[in-house]
Amino acid sequence: MRTKISYYFHIFAGVLYSKNMGMKEIQILDKRFREFIPEHTIQERINELASQINKDYAGKEVICIGVLNGAFIFAADLFRKIEFKARITFIKLASYAGTSSSGEVKELIGWNEDLKDKSVIIIEDIVDTGVTLEHTVDNLIIRDAREIKIVTFLLKPGAYKKDIHIDYVGFEIPNDFVVGYGLDYNGEGRNLPSVYTLIL
Ligand code: IMP
Ligand code: MG
Repeated sequence: MRTKISYYFHIFAGVLYSKNMGMKEIQILDKRFREFIPEHTIQERINELASQINKDYAGKEVICIGVLNGAFIFAADLFRKIEFKARITFIKLASYAGTSSSGEVKELIGWNEDLKDKSVIIIEDIVDTGVTLEHTVDNLIIRDAREIKIVTFLLKPGAYKKDIHIDYVGFEIPNDFVVGYGLDYNGEGRNLPSVYTLIL
């Protein structure tokens, strides 16, 4: 009994210790990651973003376009907090293989909504080089959207190579690979409620 209690105590203390030191670590496939943006910080920031967007769009009508797969969790959390008239649709793009961008965007699920003269908000999980974002914006221009704004959960300013203005940014992060809150490493880790960064 004693051993058991002390065993649990050690586990508990270990979790506390690593949390306090900001060192909560996890393993995904062959890589280790460290907690970087905790769940409560993410949720607080989403509340701030939503109230800003609600102010800017009060009385308007909008179509939100979530970019799958990565943005599905962020889009769901943000969309629930939207108070103006809004619809949501998704496109599915892929440009990442492992931990780096392939530089080429593949369209896996395309465009089926009429966007002519519509006000559109693109919802991205992360803007890295900006190749995916540019691809999405170009498609909206071709489809004659009237107004295009962009909200991204994360932005890597050090990697961003385009000059498309990003209207709403959850967090600016260093140019490191991250997982969690919808973002994956080779398909894993999307279900983590916090964001974790790769330990090199
Ligand atoms: P970009 O086209 O280089 O801007 O890359 C954008 C896409 O790559 C994002 O929508 C993500 O799906 C993926 N991506 C970029 N950086 C990361 C990362 O750090 N972790 C996981 N996926 C990422
Ligand atoms: Mg994405």
